[in-house]
Amino acid sequence: MDKFYHIVTYGCQMNVHESEKIAGILSELGYKSCPCMEDADIVVFNTCCIRENAENHAYGNIGMLKKLKAKKRDMIIAVGGCLTQQIKKADDLHEKFPYVDIIFGTHNLNKLKDYIEEKRKRKKVLIEIEECDGTVSEGDKPFRTSYPNAWVNITYGCNNFCSYCIVPYVRGRERSRKSENIIKEVRSLVAEGYKEITLLGQNVNSYGNYGADIPFYELLDKVAKIEGDFRLRFMTSHPKDFSEELAKVIASNRKICHCVHLPVQSGSDSVLAAMNRRYTSSDYLKKVDILRKYVPDCAITTDIIVGFPGETELDFNDTLELVKKVDFASAFTFVYSRRDGTVAAKMENQIPEEICKRRIMELVELVNQQTRKHSAKFVGQTVNVLCEDYDGKRGMYQGRNEYGRMVYFKGECDLTGQFVNVRVEEANGIALIGKTV
Ligand code: 5AD
Ligand code: SF4
Repeated sequence: MDKFYHIVTYGCQMNVHESEKIAGILSELGYKSCPCMEDADIVVFNTCCIRENAENHAYGNIGMLKKLKAKKRDMIIAVGGCLTQQIKKADDLHEKFPYVDIIFGTHNLNKLKDYIEEKRKRKKVLIEIEECDGTVSEGDKPFRTSYPNAWVNITYGCNNFCSYCIVPYVRGRERSRKSENIIKEVRSLVAEGYKEITLLGQNVNSYGNYGADIPFYELLDKVAKIEGDFRLRFMTSHPKDFSEELAKVIASNRKICHCVHLPVQSGSDSVLAAMNRRYTSSDYLKKVDILRKYVPDCAITTDIIVGFPGETELDFNDTLELVKKVDFASAFTFVYSRRDGTVAAKMENQIPEEICKRRIMELVELVNQQTRKHSAKFVGQTVNVLCEDYDGKRGMYQGRNEYGRMVYFKGECDLTGQFVNVRVEEANGIALIGKTV
């Protein structure tokens, strides 16, 4: 009889790709994917702890499984990822949800197969959280679920210790994969027909600083020179490590999308210093100038946090001013979330919720204005779109142009995985709507 798995993923692209690796392990064990938790023989929660709401979301969903587990005693529930990498949180989770069968962390994901086999033999809950041993994962066989897009890890972990961020504590020290392994993986993905490759790391620009043979710009150049019809993206870039060489490589290879995610976090120098970002707002603006000098049409996107401890009205205004100066193509905006164990969690002057709410609303309003303006620029233009999927609700295909804008359009036959020229007729907020030409 067929056995089914269902994976619930929280958080970033890194986690989405890790869930593909989990799916690969479950497929090897003979499980098939199913869209409904109710039908699954094993449910895996791949958690995130970067902000409190991501954690609460996971707790809520795991809590809802209690009834189902009471009815389906043989169903295995496994919880892994960044949340459970914190031993105290793993223990709390076990106490709160005793019906969870397997609890594992970020560094022992590839042992999930053994855990499941062991769990089938014994009744007891299995909790195993390992410290990072500095090894670089190779030979994973992800079950890719996002054709025509494929993600490729180039670095793991982070050494930056931004004072608000939990990632360095749950993902361990930064380590890079060997360039030859990355190039081999991309080559075979392109041969399999993947059309958009995204190189992934917490800070891709420091690839080469920790164990790799070449710097990031050289890696990017080599990957972009792989034969075949594909687009190349990378994320995330830390502004302190973003170099002129990298801007030149982006400009000189048409496979590399003119779209760079460059998180600024704040426009205030004192907040940036307290965040341990190791650049000032003017350093950031210089990097933007360099990028635009070589790649004038580059869409620059960012992450911004409001309500960091001690952020004054003047600091917040500096952020608004910087946003206006850079004119971001789009931005992810966050309210600061206090994370136990980080330096910022111990800072005095945590900002009250009402102030954070007002600031985030003001910032979102400004960012939305800019995003709409950037989208409107495409109206009347023909854009090249990589068709990703069919949106049944809209009755339209969907895909992105190289600048990352979502484009909806009608098509006669299945266009998924093809590059299509679309004439944009309308900008609907952020998204674009058009007709194939
Ligand atoms: N609170 C709010 N936002 C955070 N980020 C990271 N840690 C926190 C936190 N504690 C944001 C940063 C980062 C993005 C992935 O998440 O903006 O770039
Ligand atoms: Fe977190 Fe900073 Fe590392 Fe990004 S660079 S993962 S924000 S510590």
